[in-house]
Amino acid sequence: MGVPSLSKIRPADIRVAGEYHSGFHHGGMRHHSDQPFPEYGRRRQTWIFVRGLGHKVSRVPVDFSTLEERARGVMTKRGFAYVAGGAGNARTMVANRAGFDRWRIVPRMLRDVSRRDLSLTLFGERLPTPLILAPVGVLEMVHPRADLAAARAAATERVPFIFSNQASVPMETCAAAMGEGIRWFQLYWSTDDQLVISFLRRAEACGCRALVVTLDTTLLGWRPRDLDLGSLPFLRGMGIAQYTSDPVFCEGLDQARTEPMTNPVEPPKNLFSLGARWEQIRRYPGSLSRNLRSGAPAAAVRKFLRIYSRTSLTWKDLAWLREHTRLPILLKGILSPEDARLAVEHGVTGIIVSNHGGRQVDGAVAAIDALPEIVKATEGRLPVLFDSGIRGGADIFKALALGASAVCLGRPYVYGLAITGERGVREVIQNILAEFELTMALSGCATLEDVANAALEKLG
Ligand SMILES: Cc1cc2nc3c(=O)[nH]c(=O)nc-3n(C[C@H](O)[C@H](O)[C@H](O)COP(=O)(O)O)c2cc1C
Repeated sequence: MGVPSLSKIRPADIRVAGEYHSGFHHGGMRHHSDQPFPEYGRRRQTWIFVRGLGHKVSRVPVDFSTLEERARGVMTKRGFAYVAGGAGNARTMVANRAGFDRWRIVPRMLRDVSRRDLSLTLFGERLPTPLILAPVGVLEMVHPRADLAAARAAATERVPFIFSNQASVPMETCAAAMGEGIRWFQLYWSTDDQLVISFLRRAEACGCRALVVTLDTTLLGWRPRDLDLGSLPFLRGMGIAQYTSDPVFCEGLDQARTEPMTNPVEPPKNLFSLGARWEQIRRYPGSLSRNLRSGAPAAAVRKFLRIYSRTSLTWKDLAWLREHTRLPILLKGILSPEDARLAVEHGVTGIIVSNHGGRQVDGAVAAIDALPEIVKATEGRLPVLFDSGIRGGADIFKALALGASAVCLGRPYVYGLAITGERGVREVIQNILAEFELTMALSGCATLEDVANAALEKLG
């Protein structure tokens, strides 16, 4: 069952396969998710199995561990450490997965699931599926086209994309490549108010429909994999493109140059540190010769480190943010029911239950374990989104059955990006949506409302 025989392949299936053969360009072809009930699962299976007849298999593995291994093989040591690493002994990352494994789906039979509808309305907007690409910084460590490739892939697959504040490509460039694709902006709340306001104006101007404020990274977590390699990408001028493309940020650069370093450590004087300096210069916008002379690239890195994040933030500051943007505000990094209640009280539009993929606090509560109590605490007064540990379609099902309205995908799409760029991100999205839709159908659910009401059993 589930394997299409050749005689059962319909012209529509072949067309999808042909679409992928033609380098993933849709041209004038209708995207399959334009249809009211796109069959993500069967289409993807058909494409994979029919190509398999000719011994063609995708370079982007379906299975997550194989995907991660394949990505590791094509990534630099520093790049892989940055993406795969977690805080401390990685206990939170392990807990995120163990949490999912404790929940079991109880499939129901004999319910008409011939038409599967994965769509939902979120913040007044109709979305074809409950999948969103999470904000992930420094994607240039993963692939040269970085955010641009991910943004385009998300737009083609009709999945919202959240621009990271630590992106490698300015938000305007990504937005311009996304057409009507839905984008949100993720903010790291800087100590510089004017810079925050500038980020908000830019996000609004380039069509972002929501603001995600990440609360869990006022400081960088203790990440042994990066520490053991002595690797912080920002020092090489990576992941600061939203800043170096910002007029307010760049305005102060000359003053920053003359400021004494707040950190007295100087890089060792050798070829490697010269190389790192060259990387800063090469990445900085503008001409090489000017950047070589101006000293602005190094000043930008120093300024970024100085103003990156505001550790003094409290709930009271949200009113200021509300005054400065008309976008819906989501708080990302909520793990306690009490904080979820405070979020409701402070009138935010939504929250994202997340532990940043286990990258911040070692031994933190698994995001999926925190979800049910948080949903209860919000009493349906705002949408609760979820990330941290989503690795397959069944995980999306479980998160939605535990009360999430939608989920954000993190590391899996980053690995797809590492392997084959934009195409890899598209394949990862297609695979996870395929598995989600099949899981829905096979569990007796035709709509997301059915999934929300589906029974899960908890082990132990
Ligand atoms: C390499 C990497 C970079 C990230 N950068 C950001 C970021 O810039 N902003 C942010 O809010 N979250 C960031 N996150 C967290 C993700 O948005 C998301 O919460 C996390 O990836 C979910 O965990 P998972 O990928 O293990 O499922 C990053 C995660 C990874 C793996």
